[in-house]
Amino acid sequence: MAPVDPHSYTDGEHPVVSHAALAFYLDFAASTIHASALLTLDAPHSGDLLLDTRALAIHSASTAADPPEPIPFSLAADLDPVLGSALTLTLPPDTTSFRLTFSTSPAASALQWLAPPQTASGQPFVFSQCQSIHARSVFPCHDTPAARITFSLLLNVPAQLSAVAAARHVARRDPLPADHRGACDDELWCAPGRIVEEFQMEQSVPPYLFAFAAGGIGFRDLGPRTRVYAEGGDKVLDEAAREFAGVEEMVKVGESLFGPYEWERFDLLVLPPSFPYGGMENPRMVFLTPTVIKGDAAGAQVVAHELAHSWTGNLITNKTNEDFWLNEGFTTYAERRIVEVVQGEERAALNMGIGWRGLNRMMERFKDNMEFTKLKPNMAGIDPDDVYSEVPYEKGFQFLWRIERQIGRPAFDEFLKKYIATFKFQSIDTETFLEFLKTNVPGIENQIDLKLWVEGTGIPPDAMEPDSSTYKKICALAAEFKSGKLPSEDEVADWSGQEWELYLENLPTDVEASQVTALDERYKLSESRDYEVKVAFLQLAIPTGCKCYFNEVEKCLKQVGRMKYLRPLYSSLAKCSGEEKMLAQRIFSEAQEFYHPIARSVAETILSKHS
Ligand code: BES
Ligand code: ZN
Repeated sequence: MAPVDPHSYTDGEHPVVSHAALAFYLDFAASTIHASALLTLDAPHSGDLLLDTRALAIHSASTAADPPEPIPFSLAADLDPVLGSALTLTLPPDTTSFRLTFSTSPAASALQWLAPPQTASGQPFVFSQCQSIHARSVFPCHDTPAARITFSLLLNVPAQLSAVAAARHVARRDPLPADHRGACDDELWCAPGRIVEEFQMEQSVPPYLFAFAAGGIGFRDLGPRTRVYAEGGDKVLDEAAREFAGVEEMVKVGESLFGPYEWERFDLLVLPPSFPYGGMENPRMVFLTPTVIKGDAAGAQVVAHELAHSWTGNLITNKTNEDFWLNEGFTTYAERRIVEVVQGEERAALNMGIGWRGLNRMMERFKDNMEFTKLKPNMAGIDPDDVYSEVPYEKGFQFLWRIERQIGRPAFDEFLKKYIATFKFQSIDTETFLEFLKTNVPGIENQIDLKLWVEGTGIPPDAMEPDSSTYKKICALAAEFKSGKLPSEDEVADWSGQEWELYLENLPTDVEASQVTALDERYKLSESRDYEVKVAFLQLAIPTGCKCYFNEVEKCLKQVGRMKYLRPLYSSLAKCSGEEKMLAQRIFSEAQEFYHPIARSVAETILSKHS
């Protein structure tokens, strides 16, 4: 066996699945998908073939011939906590395609099923989040970004719902018996009151970009190729349309910087508040947390980031999660270039400053496990969700920014465009990037210590703090806090959420409870509607032992399932002794039903580490 990826059972010596024809019957009452998959290999194969699965019930495997012949299969009994269970098929000679029928588990790690009382529309809702290694809980696949697939997808849903997917929408139509290929029986598939939403993805994507959602979803058009979808009715849609009005302009800026936008449409889906990320770059249909809609255009940063992935991540993809910085570091760099054009240099520098703080904080988080401060860490046996951090984003950004400073912006822009045009629709590793860099920027290895940047731990000495006046002013104000000085009303008059976030994150961590409450009395940060601000404040307040914010902490943990907020809040509570720790456990036991399975498991890991 020749593993290609520490997070997959894919055998590098065997062909891989290059196309999946999927038919899903969504059973909301049972939180289960009954499914069939017609999988096509990139070359004929006989004998054993391994696929990744997690918590799937496999019902049958057969050839694609007419009539189909059964294919022997076995599902590994020894479940690996990170990898799941390998499905071994024994294919007859020269097999190029075969068919599987299977059902997902209600506990599928990629899927969150929301019952009508949990949604804004009063309709059931389901959505997927497959990055990094959760596609295998939806369908058997080679769940490594090294193996790209095209797919077709039929979603059979109750007719009062609509569905979206990260793919071209082909039709909304009545179900046909020929559609399901054994996903369930004809009667169920074609029952009155069911509808099929049909999708096609002709561009090859890594399996982690497979995505869909179904529920009481409506939409507003934003521009010729962009539309925002959301559940929750007119008010949410109007707010979303206002927040994202500038998206078409952003796509144009992206094209001018990085080359043509290759995905035809750039639609946005605003998810229910339990969505575990700020945004997810599902191609043609970015998924977003509703917390980015704040009415102050701050959502633009998250949209810029997910849009930037259309080039860096979705066109050029990390080969494995060990090369994750190729996705997120490049995207953070590209995001800031877009922000610089649409919101100005000061705003971009502010974002860089917030990132710089985040990177420095990660050195503290990983001080006993410096491996995860490397750009290319060893991930064998590690669950990517457990070590998710700002390192690939911000150290990756710093590395690229360092190269830009070395060769100058015009040359770096040329390099970037060429890099994207050369590797688009491929999955590459760090070594491939370095080779390309050395070939196209001769002598760079004598100017920058590439080995230290890629293989070293910590922050290299030639990394750089941003140098902007707003950034410096805010840092200076934060430094004065220790001596008891709060920023004046004048000084904060034009601050938006990001200025506050930067200020709070630069405050010393060993402050007194009285100082924290004084700040809050003046500026009401604990009640901010901007969760970035609220969480940054609560994170500062919890270690001071001040109990007066327990209520706000609880509300926050129960209202929003974004892991960026859950992680720091649960960690700060769990690190305290006594009441805080008990509070964390009680809140978790009451809130866990509301969390996406990925977030639930991450919160559980945090609490168990400190129990
Ligand atoms: N691709 C990530 C989200 C992700 C990473 C999901 C790893 C699963 C595993 C996405 O592009 C992202 O980085 N989102 C950020 C947005 C921010 C950097 C503007 C987030 O969710 O906070
Ligand atoms: Zn990203």
